[in-house]
Amino acid sequence: MTIAVIGTGFVGVVTAAVYASFGHKVFGLDIDQKKINKLKKSQVPFHEPQLEDLLKETQKKNHLSFTTSYQEAIQSADLIIVAVGTPSTIDGGVDLKYVFACAESLAPYLKSEAVVVVKSTVPPGTLDLVRDKIKSRTKTKFNLASLPEFLREGSAVNDTLHPDRIVIGAENQTTFELLGELHAPLKAPIVRVRPESAQMAKYAANAYLAMRITFINQVADICEKSGADIEEVISAIGYDKRIGAHYWYPGPGYGGSCFPKDVKELAHFFKQMGKTDNLFVKINQLNSYRINLLLTDYGRKVGGFKDKQILVLGLSFKPNTDDLREAPSTKFIPQLIKLRAQIIAFDPVVKQKTAQAVFGQYLESGSLIIEDELDDLTNSADAIFLLTEWSELISLDYSRFRNGTKPQWLFDIRNRLNPVQVRKWGFKYQGIGRQG
Ligand code: UGA
Repeated sequence: MTIAVIGTGFVGVVTAAVYASFGHKVFGLDIDQKKINKLKKSQVPFHEPQLEDLLKETQKKNHLSFTTSYQEAIQSADLIIVAVGTPSTIDGGVDLKYVFACAESLAPYLKSEAVVVVKSTVPPGTLDLVRDKIKSRTKTKFNLASLPEFLREGSAVNDTLHPDRIVIGAENQTTFELLGELHAPLKAPIVRVRPESAQMAKYAANAYLAMRITFINQVADICEKSGADIEEVISAIGYDKRIGAHYWYPGPGYGGSCFPKDVKELAHFFKQMGKTDNLFVKINQLNSYRINLLLTDYGRKVGGFKDKQILVLGLSFKPNTDDLREAPSTKFIPQLIKLRAQIIAFDPVVKQKTAQAVFGQYLESGSLIIEDELDDLTNSADAIFLLTEWSELISLDYSRFRNGTKPQWLFDIRNRLNPVQVRKWGFKYQGIGRQG
């Protein structure tokens, strides 16, 4: 079939490339000419493993092409997938302006009986609004569906090729069949539901995972003060099949472009229904305060951060991506600098250029230095913060950062180091909820 994917952000490019790899004719459409120029040359504007190879392969076979022309992408499309951003409003609601702009722009070129699919994360009820926007610009008959996305950054291609499930929210049988056929090669369970349920399933899945992380962080904090070790606690409760040992390693709180936003939006919907005191408000609060609480504790340990040299390892919000959105580094670093610390940082993929937009003022003032190579890093830091669990950072021999003449702290914010080994190297160790 012929498919148009609107929005060449992270979800859009991966989706377009994977459908093209099934042999469909896919157009990736975006109004950003610069991005499209890059994608035409198979250059991915962000760091995502496997994606560049998939783009090269599908473009070479002429299954995938990129354009800024709505007419070119939409006129022959059987299926149009809207994968544009849905930013939050100031009060925590969702701003659907890009979804609506797409609906209005695609309408004049719609082929009869085409299916318009909303993949962007949107609240229940959005399809009715999208329908009104399209109908205001065309008399052509079309169908609508919701197809939420569950892939993770850093493993997006693999997640898309091997999903746990595909959730299709459609209004009629023909649409269920078309989308079922599209996903048949994945051999994944297909859950057919009404569009509102598909939309809510996306929010509920993300909020549940965010809640698990918040829960284990709270338990970790109790462990630290009570002589228990969170890793031992996880191993003990993880045997319960109802709970499991997966997806709740403790840390600095959840970040990234999805969990913080989706939890806040759920809190907002609930507030609008008159439930101001709801679970999602609390999850968001606990997660937002977390880094400040950690820093207060660490500050006491190092005797205040003023004039201290801090080595920050890991800037991206998680490994295998260069995404800095809601990354712990974007909270730790400004706070530490405010407390008058001097920061030297390293990340395997986030270099000065990528970091400029977020850390520009600190780089310019010299309070933050981002080194390109591990070998350039100082061994005289008063404290090391391991912020992101990149494999190259958790497998390091940290004795290279040891300065024999002064006490040094190693704050293992992801609990990925062996406390016994770290102490053998001569550091003082502090993990999250660990006794060591
Ligand atoms: C998340 C979901 O996992 C995807 O299913 C969803 O499709 C995506 O959001 C989205 O809505 O687009 P992602 O944000 O890429 O994916 O990253 P995750 O690997 O889920 O991590 C999210 C945050 O939780 C990160 O800050 C990570 O460090 C943190 N985390 C994760 C923990 O603190 N502990 C864990 O055990 C797992």
